[in-house]
Amino acid sequence: MTARQIRKDVWWMGAIDWDRRLFDSLIPLPDGTSYNAYLIKGKDKVVLIDSVDPTMTEILLNHLKMVDRLDYIISLHAEQDHSGAIPDVLKKYPEAKVISSSQAKEMLADLLHLPPDKIIPVEDGEKLSLGQKTLCFLYTPWVHWPETICVYLEEERILFSCDFFGSHLATSDLYVTDEGRVIEAAKRYYAEIMMPFRKIIQKNLEKISVWPFEIIAPSHGPLYDKPEFIVQAYREWVSDNPRNLVVIPYVSMHGSTFKMVRHLVSALMERGMEVRQFFLPETDLGKLAISLVDAATVVLGTPTVHVGPHPLATFAASLLNILRPKVKFLSVVGSYGWSTKVVEQIASLITNIKAEILPPVMAKGKPREADFRALDSLAETIFQKHQALRLL
Ligand code: FEO
Repeated sequence: MTARQIRKDVWWMGAIDWDRRLFDSLIPLPDGTSYNAYLIKGKDKVVLIDSVDPTMTEILLNHLKMVDRLDYIISLHAEQDHSGAIPDVLKKYPEAKVISSSQAKEMLADLLHLPPDKIIPVEDGEKLSLGQKTLCFLYTPWVHWPETICVYLEEERILFSCDFFGSHLATSDLYVTDEGRVIEAAKRYYAEIMMPFRKIIQKNLEKISVWPFEIIAPSHGPLYDKPEFIVQAYREWVSDNPRNLVVIPYVSMHGSTFKMVRHLVSALMERGMEVRQFFLPETDLGKLAISLVDAATVVLGTPTVHVGPHPLATFAASLLNILRPKVKFLSVVGSYGWSTKVVEQIASLITNIKAEILPPVMAKGKPREADFRALDSLAETIFQKHQALRLL
C-alpha cells in the first residue's frame, strides 16, 4: 500500500482493511473498511491528520518514510480507529505535538495515555498556518463523539471530515466511482453511529456548508470529489420526514409469530405500502439500521418467552432505543402460551422513541381468524396514519 497524492503536497496515507468483518464487536462490515490518514506539507510545517487503527500502524509508519519531520498530528476524533497509532507516530517523531479539540485533549490522555503537555487544544474557528497552506478547525460535535472536529484546508478547498460522511468500504478507489455502492455503505454507517444525533447533525451540515469545499476527505471509505451527492443524501437522512415504509423485525419459535408477520406484510402490501421484513436470528443488523433511517412505522414481532419478549426482540427494541430513528408509529405483534407481558416490557425498553403506539396484536397459541382480522385492522390503521402524513 502506498501513499496517494490528492493535491500538491496533500497525501492520503491510510490503510485499507479488506478483511475486517466486525466493528465494536457489534457492527457488521460486509465490505471491510479503511482508516484514512492525510499528510499536508506546508512551506513551514508538516501535519498528519489522524492516524489509523492500531492493527495497521506499520502501514502508516511506512507511508511516513516520505517525511523526515512532523510538526503536528491533528486528531479529529479520539476513537482508537483514528487515534490508536498516534503513540507510535510520536515515538518516531518525538518533536511533534498533537492538536485536538479541548474535549478531545482529556479523552486522548485517557484512551492513549498521551502526556497532556503533548496536546495543544484548538478552539472552534481557530486557524493554523502551515506556510502557504491554512487550516481552519470546525467543531462538529457528535459526528461521531462529542469531541469530534473537522478541518478545512482553505487553499485546496478540502474538508477533512473524519467519521462525518464516512463509509465502511474497503476499495482500491481513492475517489468515489460507484455512487450507488458508496451511498449504501455511507447510509449504513450513518444509521449505525450517527442517527441518534440527527438533530445536531442538521446543524453541523449547515455549519460546514458555508465552506466552498471541492473535496470531502473522510476517515473511512473513498473521498468525494463531487461532494454534493453525499451532502444531499445526509440532508435527506437527517430530515424530519420519514417515508411510506414499514419495518418489521421479528423472531418466531414455533411459527405463530411468523404466520402473523406474513399476514401483516401481505395486508400492508395490498394497501400499497413499502414493507421490509427482518428475521432477527439471521438478519444483517446494518440492513435493519439502514431501513430505520427512513421508516415511518416499526412493528416488532415476537413470541412470548416465559412472560416477556424473546431475547432477540429485546435486543431489537434496545437497538431501536439507542439508534433513535425518526419513526412515527410503533406496534407489536406476536403470540403467547398462557400469559404475556411482552407489550409492557417492550414499551419500557423504547423510552427514547417519541412515537405513537398503535394497538398491538397478541395471539394466544396459533393465530385464529380473529387474530388475522386484528392484523388487517392494524394494517388499515398504519395505512391511514401514513396517508394522514401524506406519505402515500
Ligand atoms: Fe471511525 Fe468514531 O470512529
